[in-house]
Amino acid sequence: MAELKFLGISGSLRAASYNTAALRAAIELAPEGVTIELASIADIPLYNEDVKVAGIPAPVAALQAAIAAADAALIATPEYNYSVPGVLKNTIDWISRTDPQPFKGKPVGIIGASPGGIGTARAQYDLRKSFVSLNAYVLNQPEIMIAAAHTRFDAAGKLTDAGTREFLGKMLVALRDWTLHLKA
Ligand SMILES: Cc1cc2nc3c(=O)[nH]c(=O)nc-3n(C[C@H](O)[C@H](O)[C@H](O)COP(=O)(O)O)c2cc1C
Repeated sequence: MAELKFLGISGSLRAASYNTAALRAAIELAPEGVTIELASIADIPLYNEDVKVAGIPAPVAALQAAIAAADAALIATPEYNYSVPGVLKNTIDWISRTDPQPFKGKPVGIIGASPGGIGTARAQYDLRKSFVSLNAYVLNQPEIMIAAAHTRFDAAGKLTDAGTREFLGKMLVALRDWTLHLKA
């Protein structure tokens, strides 16, 4: 099987982010035939139509190219006030205005981690809604909503909870198979 490349994008900018840590766990748990690299959204500017008209900013163009080059995207979203954090939504808004828009027809997996009880469920459903607008092909199941994240990662940010590791591994297999299905 040819190697598939997944691009991981975390919706958190903080160094000790559970969501970025979940993506690092995904790198470890990547199934056969898949490699995962991470892209940062830290340098994406605030969306401004005037800036866009003047020219797509370099960090946006770089992310556009990285998404286009990937076979699938894996997005880890925190939940802020019951929805997608502004930095991640802002990134999606920028990418939606690039041409060619690289999420169009792209397989996408969504995961999320929160210290709270429902593990970013509300944010994930809002994110799915935005990806309908971008015409991405989001994997339906399994859904990875990592609740009580502070009990599942250690102080160094390693995903230590065995059940979560197993479930995330199954999701990555499903995203690989979804990606292959869409390519076929
Ligand atoms: C502005 C703000 C709003 C938040 N709102 C929610 C929320 O609605 N639901 C939730 O589960 N956690 C909420 N949290 C807590 C985040 O889940 C927590 O900060 C988490 O660690 C963020 O993800 P990260 O670790 O990847 O940075 C909020 C945090 C911030 C800073």
